[in-house]
Amino acid sequence: MRHSTDRQRFVRLLQRAYSGELGAALAYRGHAASVRDPDERRRIAEIRSEELDHRARVGRILAAVNSQPDRRLELCNRCIGTGIALFCRVGGWFLPMYGAGWIERRNIVEYERAARLGWLCGDSAFVDELLDMAEIEWEHERYFRLKAASHRCSGLLPLWRAPEPRNELRRSFERFVREQQGGWDRAPRAVRKLSASTIGSLPPTPRPATRGPIAGG
Ligand SMILES: [Fe+2]
Ligand SMILES: [Fe+2]
Repeated sequence: MRHSTDRQRFVRLLQRAYSGELGAALAYRGHAASVRDPDERRRIAEIRSEELDHRARVGRILAAVNSQPDRRLELCNRCIGTGIALFCRVGGWFLPMYGAGWIERRNIVEYERAARLGWLCGDSAFVDELLDMAEIEWEHERYFRLKAASHRCSGLLPLWRAPEPRNELRRSFERFVREQQGGWDRAPRAVRKLSASTIGSLPPTPRPATRGPIAGG
């Protein structure tokens, strides 16, 4: 039962991420066009292309788990992305930068959650790719957070809490795996290899009676 619930949550999360990437790509097209600085325009366009790459990758994972995008989410995110792109034309410089950073902060967590749910479902083959996308979202968040922080309005509108350092994303996943019941043996080889030193230095974790909740999600 738990497995099937995790599977449903995993698929739903993938569908949300897939459509969210469409919204992001549409929004960033408008955002890139709205800034005057060529470096900012170039970087936002680069981020947009990374969102489209994420969408393609998540789409492949969805297909691999025998699911497909949700048409309602697609329509909803298309509208949101288009709306944000239009707002960027009139919203000045600060608010689009601030809003993008705030959304990117959520995207990091979304891919971390997807990696954990995928692992719980036995789809550990996707973990590395999902964590890689979380790391790229981390870079996006950092760019927009620093941009927003550089503006005088950041004193009026407090910034969100910054994420943990980038390398904490994989360490956090490793801790999650270790906390799961007999879970370490099911961890992907790449994660086991990466973690060999840190795991060796930590005391053994007692086996929980049941699986814990999705940590840090
Ligand atoms: Fe993305
Ligand atoms: Fe992003």
